[in-house]
Amino acid sequence: MMSATGLERATARMRDAGMPQLAIDVFADYYHQLEQGRTGLIPEESITPITQVDDLADARFGAEEQAQALRRTVFVKLNGGLGTSMGMDRAKSLLPVREGLCFLDIIVRQLQAVRAATGVQAPLILMNSFRTRDDSLALLAGHPPLNPDGIPSDFCQHREPKLLVETLEPVDWPSDPGLEWCPPGHGDIYVALQTTGILDELIARGYRYMNTSNADNLGAAPDGRLAAWFAASGAPYSPEVCLRTPADRKGGHLAVRRSDGRMILRDTAQTPDEDMRWFTDEHRHRFFHTNNLWFDLVALRDALAVRGGPPGLPLIRNRKHVDPSDPSSPEVFQIESALGAIVELFDGARPVLVPRERFLPVKTTDDLALLRSDVYELDADSRLRRTTGGIPLVRLDPEHYKRIADFEARFPAGVPSLREASSLTVQGDWTFGSGVVVHGDAVLGPTERPMRVEDGARL
Ligand code: UTP
Repeated sequence: MMSATGLERATARMRDAGMPQLAIDVFADYYHQLEQGRTGLIPEESITPITQVDDLADARFGAEEQAQALRRTVFVKLNGGLGTSMGMDRAKSLLPVREGLCFLDIIVRQLQAVRAATGVQAPLILMNSFRTRDDSLALLAGHPPLNPDGIPSDFCQHREPKLLVETLEPVDWPSDPGLEWCPPGHGDIYVALQTTGILDELIARGYRYMNTSNADNLGAAPDGRLAAWFAASGAPYSPEVCLRTPADRKGGHLAVRRSDGRMILRDTAQTPDEDMRWFTDEHRHRFFHTNNLWFDLVALRDALAVRGGPPGLPLIRNRKHVDPSDPSSPEVFQIESALGAIVELFDGARPVLVPRERFLPVKTTDDLALLRSDVYELDADSRLRRTTGGIPLVRLDPEHYKRIADFEARFPAGVPSLREASSLTVQGDWTFGSGVVVHGDAVLGPTERPMRVEDGARL
């Protein structure tokens, strides 16, 4: 008798874990692509840049138009990722940011501010994953009930086995079986919206628009002007984009695929190494993709129905270690897809240029250091406002600061003042005392043993 294949073993695990058939089918489809050696790479020569987009700055909408659009809008925060780049295996959104508040606390307050200003009880729904759900709901339980009756505070995405790079077998990791699984990327939202029934439920309740954004992007607060712009545009789908500057390394970009003229999204993981210079070239690809997206829910339902279920988004093949905190653990592929890749399904998708403040993601501890510093303050609406003209460049030694636990241990009294700084580069192992102030371009050099920056030091 033939023994079960890697795919059979992986899908059996998903079935045993109670995953719905649609999620298993999507996984199997990507698995076949992986087997065929598909990498999901999008070479520069296969695309044409986008040069023109709508500009939110041209939009004029009164308070009533904004309230009207908000009444039909739900806000979804993508909260299923595990922050592995920062050495985490839980929700990044529970990390403290400022004044004892974590990302999720601030997200709730931003929503409450918009509700108070407009009188509209727009719902906020988290998309969680198996590792983020319990903690995040426990945090929300500490706030007054979030949503109008009948609208859940979250829905859960699926999970899939991590696959050994060598064999594409589902990995066994008995010392921590939770690490055998991963969420399938935020593109899984389309499958989850269907398998949970939430998409139909929202439409049945009269909601027409959905704004999704990353829980780690505190710039993406609910916004009546954008809601009104999107409602008035009549577009089925609009990704928010920002103008790229030379300093911007993050954010994928939209482009037109030469072979069929469709708009597509290209992320870092889909860009061949030799094309990375084009990817970040602000003259060639002028706009970057913020991952703040606007959907017409009816158009989304119709687009998914046409395909009979899985949206068939491009594969993203992510290579990681089964235990992200242990580089000697076996290498695995995590099959993922990106939610913004859905752009290629919509005729008439309309990117919109938004102010830079709408993009404030925390991908690394360098980003977190900035957000915690006096370069930002929380305003009365719980939005983060910059207190300085420019944003200093923070580069912390990955060996000692990349993982969140290491980072916290080296800033026991909080991050230094950075508002007078142009850049802070830390090489080696430095622990910061309290009241440290950084000016201009500061460099702390390599250390042979752990060193300390004294309380009140000026760098
Ligand atoms: P990222 O792409 O930054 O990934 O997610 P991540 O999982 O948070 O971090 P790394 O790559 O493991 O370090 C962008 C947003 O999408 C959410 C994250 O929670 C974050 O808000 N996300 C990501 C999901 O909701 N589900 C996923 O499967 C992946």
